[in-house]
Amino acid sequence: MQKVALIGYRGMVGSVLVERMISENDFSGIEPFFASTSQAGEKGPDIGMEVPPVADALDIDFLSGMDIILTCQGSDYTKKVYPALRKNGWKGYWIDAASALRMNDDSVIVLDPVNRPVIDKALQRGVLDFIGGNCTVSLMLMAIGALFRKGYIEWMTSMTYQAASGSGAKNMRELVAQMAGIGHNAETMLSDPAAGILALDRNVLETMKSDAFETGQFGAPLAGSLLPWIDAKMENGQTKEEWKGFAETNKILAAEPPIPIDGICVRIGAMRCHSQAMTIKLTKDIPVDEIEDLIQSANEWVRIVQNTKEDSLKSLTPAAVTGTLEIPVGRIRKLNMGNHYLGVFTVGDQLLWGAAEPVRRMLGILKNR
Ligand code: HSE
Repeated sequence: MQKVALIGYRGMVGSVLVERMISENDFSGIEPFFASTSQAGEKGPDIGMEVPPVADALDIDFLSGMDIILTCQGSDYTKKVYPALRKNGWKGYWIDAASALRMNDDSVIVLDPVNRPVIDKALQRGVLDFIGGNCTVSLMLMAIGALFRKGYIEWMTSMTYQAASGSGAKNMRELVAQMAGIGHNAETMLSDPAAGILALDRNVLETMKSDAFETGQFGAPLAGSLLPWIDAKMENGQTKEEWKGFAETNKILAAEPPIPIDGICVRIGAMRCHSQAMTIKLTKDIPVDEIEDLIQSANEWVRIVQNTKEDSLKSLTPAAVTGTLEIPVGRIRKLNMGNHYLGVFTVGDQLLWGAAEPVRRMLGILKNR
C-alpha cells in the first residue's frame, strides 16, 4: 500500500479535504500518515481507522519514507521543505494545494475533469509534482472548460466576485465580525419602522468608519462594501490574482498559442463561494443552445441555469452553492456587441472545486495507477 502523508490537515482547506476523503472512502487502500509543524506526537484525527501519532512535518527523514505527500500547509512550508526533500533524493509524488510550485516547468496544475490528458501525459513522462490551481481559475474552467477545449474562445475577460475564504479563515471571521458590528449598532433603528432610511445609512457608515470596526485582516471594511484588489501588485498594473487568470488557465490547458484572458478581481462579502462574470469573444457565431449543450456535457457537476430572474436567484448565488460541488452556469446570452460576444456568470465553492477537490482527486489518480 502507498504511504501517504497529509500535511496541513487541520487548516481550512485541509479540514475540507479530510472531510471529503472520509465521505469518498479515500483512506481505504492507502496507508495514511498525518504530519504537522506544531502538533507532532499528538493523536491523529478521527478518520474511522487507526492512524499513527502525528509526525513532524519538518522531519525530512520521515517525509522521505512516503510514496505521496499531499500538503495544504501553504507556500511557506512548500518553499522550506520541498527543495530539501528533493535534494535528499526523494522520488515520491508531491501534491500541493499552495501556489509555490505551480508555474514550475516540472509541475502540472491539476484539474482532472478539465485536463486529465495533460495529467496522464505528465505521469507517463515521469512528472512528480502535481499542484492545485488558483481557485478562481479552477472554478472558471470547471464551468466553461468545454468552450476552451473546442477552440471557441478567442479572448475572455473574467470579472470576479471573490469570497472572504480566499483570504483565509481569519478573514472569514473578520467579515462576520464586521457584519455583526453593523447589525448591532443599527439594531434600535432597524426595530423602529419610523426611523428614516438616511439616518440608518449614516449609522451604518459611522460604524464602518469607527476605530472600533475590525479591519485588521482586510485592511478596509468589506461588509457593506467591496475591495477591488486581491493579492500583490504586478508591474503591468494587474494584481497577482488577475495575472493568474491568464498564466494558469493557459498552463492547465497547455494552450498554444496562449489565449488572452484578463479582468478585475474583486473581494466581496460572500463567505466561501467565488463568482465571476465572463465576457467571451467567440471564434465564430455559435448559437446559445449549442453553447449550453456543450457546457452542460463537460462534466457531471456543471449545471445550466436558465436566464430568468427566478432561476438565477434560486441557483446562481453563493448562498445556493456553498458546501456543494455544483458548478451552476447562467446568465448565458449574446451581448449587444454582436453575435461573437457571449456573457456568462458562474459560481463555485472556493474550498471544494477551488482548493480541496482537485488535489483529492489527484491522490485518487495516483492511488489507482
Ligand atoms: N487567491 C484566491 C483568493 C484564493 O484570494 O480568493 C485561492 O486561490
